[in-house]
Amino acid sequence: MPYAIRVRETGGPETLVWEEIAVGDPGPGQVRLRQTAIGVNFIDIYFRAGLYEQPLPFIPGREAVGVVDAVGPDVTSLKPGDRVVYSGVQGAYAQVRLVPAARLVKVPDGISDDVGAAVMQKGMTAQFLCRQTYRVSKGDTILVHAAAGGVGLVLSQWAKHLGATVIGTVSTEEKAELVKAHGCDHALVHGKDDFVKVVREVTGGVGVPVVYDSIGKDTFMKSLDCLRPRGLMVLFGQSSGPVPPFDISILDKKGSLYLTRPTQNAYLPTRAKVEEGAQEVFDVVQSGAVKVHINQRFALKDAADAHRSLESRKTTGSLVLMA
Ligand SMILES: NC(=O)c1ccc[n+]([C@@H]2O[C@H](COP(=O)([O-])OP(=O)(O)OC[C@H]3O[C@@H](n4cnc5c(N)ncnc54)[C@H](OP(=O)(O)O)[C@@H]3O)[C@@H](O)[C@H]2O)c1
Repeated sequence: MPYAIRVRETGGPETLVWEEIAVGDPGPGQVRLRQTAIGVNFIDIYFRAGLYEQPLPFIPGREAVGVVDAVGPDVTSLKPGDRVVYSGVQGAYAQVRLVPAARLVKVPDGISDDVGAAVMQKGMTAQFLCRQTYRVSKGDTILVHAAAGGVGLVLSQWAKHLGATVIGTVSTEEKAELVKAHGCDHALVHGKDDFVKVVREVTGGVGVPVVYDSIGKDTFMKSLDCLRPRGLMVLFGQSSGPVPPFDISILDKKGSLYLTRPTQNAYLPTRAKVEEGAQEVFDVVQSGAVKVHINQRFALKDAADAHRSLESRKTTGSLVLMA
């Protein structure tokens, strides 16, 4: 029987329990996948902790690479033996699982299982952030928080590839060195550098057209002060906690600012959009424009250790669980 990590009650990393599971045959539109590598994302922590709600019990995780083991009666797009990847489908922390065929994309030959699992969710997120939420262009100066993180490291490299000057924030000098080697022209360390002041200096007092903020509570208000008039605040995560309610007239006082809270579901609503996003991710990885760093690997059964590392800000780049 295969195993999976299951959450029976929300809480700390100890709620991630290694259990035997029963996986049936794939139904219509489904594929059974023997998974090899599973990506860990900060959103997995929100679900485990109960910040995002999900009926209990559940298997966490949202992205993985695997080999098709069996297909449902009407599935013609895939066959047993195909190597595929998905993101945004809850239930990834498992050795074997059922996945809707429509969510699966074939992994190109040049991309290994662990790189596929490390980059799909983070890369698709970076893709819509810098190509759709705000189209980063040559000559832009932008601010990326948590630039050494999973999404941050991909986004910084991708924005640099598009011709932007990238200002990144991180929490340590080691992370600053890493991001300077991966897309960031300026690496600012929380507690040492005042990022509002530096952004103002670098932009000649004008401010940036876009801030990508995944930290939330601790950075949100200061991020607004980094924007130029009519700039776009992209709040796409909350690793420090949710942003408390605030008076919306702040956006007027700080320069007619725009604010968006983008999600993958809204940007990848159709099969065509998933394929388009995945292709762009594969292209930037295969061209070398975006280097994927798997700086932490764990056995699937040790998912709790992966969560402890991620939420204590010890990690850089991607974390992968090996099934
Ligand atoms: N909207 C979407 O569709 C979408 C999709 C994917 C990811 N996300 C969001 O993007 C963010 C990044 O996800 P990820 O998986 O790549 O994680 P990550 O960036 O690798 O990890 C989170 C990082 O946030 C920073 N951080 C600042 N304050 C923190 C705190 N109090 N606790 C923990 N971390 C803190 C840390 O970097 P420093 O130590 O360098 O500050 C940490 O490494 C998350 O907020 C996630 O929810 C959103």
